[in-house]
Amino acid sequence: MITGKTLVAGVVGRPVAHSLSPVLHNAWLATAGIDGVYVAFAPDAMGLERLANGFRGGAIRGVNVTIPFKEAALKIADRASPLAKAAGAANLLIFDRDGKITADNTDGAGLLGALAVQAPTWDVHNGPVTVLGAGGAARGAVAALLAAGAPKVWVLNRTLAKADAIAKSLGSRVLPLPYAHAASALQQTTAVINATSAGLSGDGALTLPLELTHPSTVVMDMVYKPLETPFLAQARALGRPTVDGLEMLIRQAIPSFEAFYGARPPSDTDVRALALKVLNP
Ligand code: ATR
Repeated sequence: MITGKTLVAGVVGRPVAHSLSPVLHNAWLATAGIDGVYVAFAPDAMGLERLANGFRGGAIRGVNVTIPFKEAALKIADRASPLAKAAGAANLLIFDRDGKITADNTDGAGLLGALAVQAPTWDVHNGPVTVLGAGGAARGAVAALLAAGAPKVWVLNRTLAKADAIAKSLGSRVLPLPYAHAASALQQTTAVINATSAGLSGDGALTLPLELTHPSTVVMDMVYKPLETPFLAQARALGRPTVDGLEMLIRQAIPSFEAFYGARPPSDTDVRALALKVLNP
């Protein structure tokens, strides 16, 4: 039941109609019996600022932010967490009572949470990690891995200048590398994380010599449509432990839910099964 006290939060994106976030949050709200709701907003391309300014003062509790607004969300905010600053992007805006907007980035928690759930023996401290891509998603992943204690992060990208830019802003533990030199990184890495948009909906799949990796090397894809990307299928065929993008989506939603509704999501709701039903009706 929606009441006069219903706590409102949501997700802002463009397009946003296929976002799984409303499915996750509303399922948790229902099981927890919280008087809250989570809805999707799709402002026009330049409309994030207008929307966010309208919510100042706490007209609604907060929003998650997705493509293409994550960088703009950080710029609009008055305060930002260190991780959002390092990532150069925010996926969470909270509309504080004092009129200020606070930005955070829970994608890093999502990345590390997914690894903890699906590759529980992997330890970020144990060796170098490889991130594929140098766009916004990759920058966030690199920032989170460094913050969690990765000793070294190789950033492989087609356009090396973008990997160089990440290294320049995030420091000397970041090593840019062209795909042509991937072999040396693959032989030493403890995890390979795809943060490129290649393989989205199955097109333009990445081809990497994953057979060069150690059998215990974890292979992760941030893409969740399809759930098993060609990249993850290649890893699975080689017997490598894999981590999927849906788990990352669910894990980033947990701290967002806490920030909106002031409670941890109930652990007995199988939101993964629900999300899979929506993905594969
Ligand atoms: P996002 O914000 O989701 O990270 P983005 O900033 O557009 O999106 O970045 C997309 C990333 O995917 C880039 O690293 C891009 O490589 P380039 O910087 O060289 O363009 C990478 N990418 C996209 N399609 C790719 C493909 N077919 N093969 C390899 N990399 C690809």
